Amino acid sequence: MSDTMNLRLTAIAYAAQDTHTFEFRRPEGGALPPVEPGAHIDIHLPNGMMRQYSLTTTEGEGDRYIVGIKRDRGSRGGSIYIHDHLKVGQIVKIGGPRNNFPLELAAPHTVLIAGGIGVTPIRCMAQRLIAKGLPFTMYYSCRTRSEAAFLDELSKRPEVTVHFDDEANGKFLDMKAIVASAPTGSHFYCCGPTPMLAAYEAATKDLAPGQMHIEYFTAKEAAATEGGYVIQLQKSGREFAIPEGKTILQVLREAGVDMTYSCEEGVCGACETVVVSGTPDHRDNILTESERQASKTMMICCSGSKSARLVLDL
Ligand code: FES
Repeated sequence: MSDTMNLRLTAIAYAAQDTHTFEFRRPEGGALPPVEPGAHIDIHLPNGMMRQYSLTTTEGEGDRYIVGIKRDRGSRGGSIYIHDHLKVGQIVKIGGPRNNFPLELAAPHTVLIAGGIGVTPIRCMAQRLIAKGLPFTMYYSCRTRSEAAFLDELSKRPEVTVHFDDEANGKFLDMKAIVASAPTGSHFYCCGPTPMLAAYEAATKDLAPGQMHIEYFTAKEAAATEGGYVIQLQKSGREFAIPEGKTILQVLREAGVDMTYSCEEGVCGACETVVVSGTPDHRDNILTESERQASKTMMICCSGSKSARLVLDL
């Protein structure tokens, strides 16, 4: 499991309909590991669930982490548990922080696109760009105005365009128009519900590699459990046959190999492992297409092997 800290839940605040912010600090006070925009933490819940949530602020917040969480009835239950059971004062195991969605400050212009509670990392990025005086445009879309967290703050900014589906006759943000109207060389970032991410991926498919940034919090592909290959650990020299029905991580854990992992579905990056040789079968949501092709690393919780043998730097 990934390294964790025991932090105290020090505040819960209303942010929008069904959305609260949750603030965590060290029980003894003091600085937390530093974070950059786009970073997330893992919240390990007392009921055994573990969920990732993006931090919503970093500027001058070295002693606390704040996440925005929507009570999502359509989700797998983590957000409902958090809203219904976590209480201020409680100690909660927090993993990370990790950043699979870093902000490229050297871009000539940045376009931020947020859908619903996907605003949490995007707001953090907007804060950083404002603090640095860097040019950006932000689009913030929600189904209704009442569900839009941080609306007062964001709607005051000239860079921000808000869009509410119910005030636009049910129309969604026009992703193609957003991409087409952005200055040349812009970097794009999108966080939101799955249909929005799909529209964003389609609208940005012709951009140069590296200009398009995206973060998923649920798996897009099934884990590779076809088996039929051998994993060799370069440092220890141990070898493991991966049988059908198991992931590499499952086999290594069962053998007592000490591994860092968290989400076990290819979305958090905790299990990223250096590949020495062989051809991984990538199934994660983290590596870019060019990173997949380079195959310098892989997520062993969900990815498998296309070659009969895969040597890992473990
Ligand atoms: Fe999260 Fe593998 S454990 S990506």
